Amino acid sequence: MTGSIRRIGIIGVGNVGSAAAFSVIHQGICEELTLVDIKKEKSIGEAIDFADSIGFLSFRTKVKSGELLDLKNCDVILISVAGEPLKPGETRLDLLKGTSAIIKDIIPPLKEAGFNGIYVVATNPCDVITYLTWKLSGLPRNQVIGTGTALDSSRFRKLLSEHLNVDSRSITAYMLGEHGESQFGAWSHVSIGGKPIRDYIEDHKENIEPFNFDDLSEHAKREGWNVFNRKGKTEYGIGNALAFIAKAILNDAYTISPVSAVLEGEYGQNDLAIGVPGILCREGLKQVIELDLDEKEQTLFKNSANVIKDNIASVKL
Ligand code: 2OP
Repeated sequence: MTGSIRRIGIIGVGNVGSAAAFSVIHQGICEELTLVDIKKEKSIGEAIDFADSIGFLSFRTKVKSGELLDLKNCDVILISVAGEPLKPGETRLDLLKGTSAIIKDIIPPLKEAGFNGIYVVATNPCDVITYLTWKLSGLPRNQVIGTGTALDSSRFRKLLSEHLNVDSRSITAYMLGEHGESQFGAWSHVSIGGKPIRDYIEDHKENIEPFNFDDLSEHAKREGWNVFNRKGKTEYGIGNALAFIAKAILNDAYTISPVSAVLEGEYGQNDLAIGVPGILCREGLKQVIELDLDEKEQTLFKNSANVIKDNIASVKL
């Protein structure tokens, strides 16, 4: 970060990238925001539109469009490129061929140009693309983070909040593993105001409608599809997830959040990126938090790791 100017770049200003830009300028997360898109006119139009909005906001952000290498001095680059759209019945993993090809085009030139900031990846399949970005970037793992199960965990907390009538920000609840079909709810570590969920429900059972834990975490996993199948995309949740992580980094906040992190032995895993809780600060990922998962959760985590590793293996680096 040169001087006190915080610079964010966004590669891909489709629905997700534009939602992230909207969130970034409304929260005053940076002083300069540069938008890059393969459709140059789109990035120019978005930049002008956002610049027109600044006069109504509490924060002043300089918004411009640019070329890929204009991002080389950014502190944070948010990646939300998209390849071919999903076909009915496909999952996020089916996007890999298209999105990995784009990542192979954009990361090496930024490496060549000496980019030494932090990548935050939302592009799906998020964990595989986060790993591919890390591999191609030549950066240490703390500088390449994926949104991973941050959004899934927010959905998980939202559902718990509705069931328990408690502010979701007072709930600790993680979806772990793949940002995809093999993710799972780490119920052994769900707490409400610091009280383990089973104890909390026992204490307040007269006011809580009984619910099935697995059904609720399955609902959290499917929430993205509940949006996608109705409006043909998701944008605000993932856009805020990108902005939330960028804010934790640029504010050196030491925020704990689930993210897709490249593991170096944590959870008994190496050579993949996967959704785990991490500490986020100006260096990016300060540390992965290793939860003491129960036996069922360890099996689910291993299964999810294998799904991601199989898909990493399918990408020719
Ligand atoms: C979601 O779950 C886009 O995969 C992202 O909304």
